[in-house]
Amino acid sequence: MDEQEKKFPKSRFGWLWENMKGRRALYVTAMLGTVVYNTLQLVVPYFSGKIVDLFNEINDTGDSIAAHSNEFYRLIITMIVLTLFRVTVVYLDCMAYESVSQYALFRIRNFLYDKIQRQDMKFYSTYRTGDLMTRVTGDLDAVRHNIAWVVRSIIESITLYTAAAVYFLIMDWKLAISILLISPLIFFIVVRFKKTVTPKHRALREKLAGMNTYAQENISGNRVVKAFAREEYEMEKFDTANTDFRDTNIDTHYTWLHYFPYVETVADALPVILLLVGGLFIISGQITMGEYVAFSGLIWAICNPMRQMGNIMNEFQRFSAASAKVMEIYYSEAEIVDAPDAIAHPGRFKGEVVFDHVSFKYEDGKLPVLKDISFTAHPGETVAIIGETGCGKTSLIQMIPRFYEPNSGTITVDGVNVNRYKLEDLRKNIGLATQDVLLYSDTIEGNIAYGVSHLTANEVVKFARASAAEEFILKMPEGYDTIVGERGVGLSGGQKQRISLARALAIEPSILILDDTTSAVDMETEKHIQHSLRDLEFECTKIIIAQRISTTKFADNILVLKDGSIIEEGTHDELIKKGGYYSELVKLQVGDITEAVGAAPEAKGGAANG
Ligand code: GTP
Ligand code: MG
Repeated sequence: MDEQEKKFPKSRFGWLWENMKGRRALYVTAMLGTVVYNTLQLVVPYFSGKIVDLFNEINDTGDSIAAHSNEFYRLIITMIVLTLFRVTVVYLDCMAYESVSQYALFRIRNFLYDKIQRQDMKFYSTYRTGDLMTRVTGDLDAVRHNIAWVVRSIIESITLYTAAAVYFLIMDWKLAISILLISPLIFFIVVRFKKTVTPKHRALREKLAGMNTYAQENISGNRVVKAFAREEYEMEKFDTANTDFRDTNIDTHYTWLHYFPYVETVADALPVILLLVGGLFIISGQITMGEYVAFSGLIWAICNPMRQMGNIMNEFQRFSAASAKVMEIYYSEAEIVDAPDAIAHPGRFKGEVVFDHVSFKYEDGKLPVLKDISFTAHPGETVAIIGETGCGKTSLIQMIPRFYEPNSGTITVDGVNVNRYKLEDLRKNIGLATQDVLLYSDTIEGNIAYGVSHLTANEVVKFARASAAEEFILKMPEGYDTIVGERGVGLSGGQKQRISLARALAIEPSILILDDTTSAVDMETEKHIQHSLRDLEFECTKIIIAQRISTTKFADNILVLKDGSIIEEGTHDELIKKGGYYSELVKLQVGDITEAVGAAPEAKGGAANG
């Protein structure tokens, strides 16, 4: 991906300007302040020149110093007052830049976080966590640095150079031109430098994101690393990434070192020219000694901006690479969003879910994952979905809350296409316990009450009981106040599943979707959960993915999925009579099929296929 190719709605600076809203006046004032304090840099050399001329005049006329003391003090005091004023402006100016840059940083970071939160599944499968983290930290800091330092340095250099050049031209245009003539050379060098350094900054940025992604994945997946005793191997891999990053960093910085001598030579030539031409001018009486002093006292104001240009260019390229990365997220749009005329449905749904000839393929996938799926779940019914691993069960249920959208066919809830509802209204009505359970590093109570912040302690207990979670929670050191680690570290697989079930129940959804939620709990616990699900206090349609016959047995309708198609559909007894895939599964899990018909089966095995 080439950032240069990417078109954003606003230019980099337009985008920064947009995010300075509320502090724009302060920023403009700060920029004017930079112009003011850099122009004031002329004060000391100007007054020094005046004072030298005063002394020369005294020498020439033979007057006593006392006769000119008033003028002398006036010059000195004005110089001191102006210098103090300049220092105050510098101080306030730096504060203003810092304040505006932190303000914009805060605003952009919040905006990005909001953006990331609202993205769809496609976004999350495109961007790696480490890369996103780099964007909201390091890249964003480069953006802040640009507002606070790069812009200020550019104005500083331009003002200083222009002020000195104008001053020189006014004092003696011939001497001024002989000095300034050399400046274009620097531009030539810096433009060449920019060409070389730009791709390096982009590479550097990629290497940093790569290294961060690597570290992030390894830290969060450290259990696997440990289980396979691959610490050495992982460290070596990290070392390689780190070395690569360091080398690119050194290379980028050496690039400037390569150009540095040329810039230095040109900048150092200036005082020599001044000495030579200025000396000749003094001898020929073209300029006074005082003017020469002012020239030489200010020659740095011409040299420094030229020297600084490389540095500024370097930082600006860093900003360019970083801002492109940040803007990419800033201007990214989720594809699955509310329709412009989306239907508000703040209350509960009845819970009728209908799939009508639904087919689906992942955007980055080659083959269709779901083919022509049609079924109806009536309000309050339990629909079980069973099928071998990878047949498309998770993909199917993810379309109900619109995590993905079908390529053809429709999914309706209470007779309305799901894409017509406001996403929030739709999703608030769906209780989902996902296959990979993700808990937050929070208390168990906090995790259960995640979807309903006003849940009372009693209600938390009620839902924990319904999910057969109470017993183990009470055994934990702090009960419901026990803090579980990141992603639920410290809990067993079955315990995590039960908390995730309690979390889904707690929102009292009108549609409850359980994706293999009891796969890791024992039979006894599973029975308890099934009873609770049957006796829920609120009406709710249940769509339950399961691998065990013991789970599917009580469903009003069972869908058997194979390679993305429904191959069998019916109740437990109907499907056994049919003698197809399902009845084979029953035989496999229960052993004797006659036992299975009409009686609660006690499965021997766990998951049939996974
Ligand atoms: P189990 O959970 O193992 O029982 O499988 P499942 O039936 O839930 O299968 P799932 O719906 O997760 O996957 C169906 C097919 O889609 C599989 O072939 C996966 O490889 C594929 N798949 C799942 N998620 C993605 C995805 O994000 N992108 C792409 N391209 N393919 C995916
Ligand atoms: Mg699945």
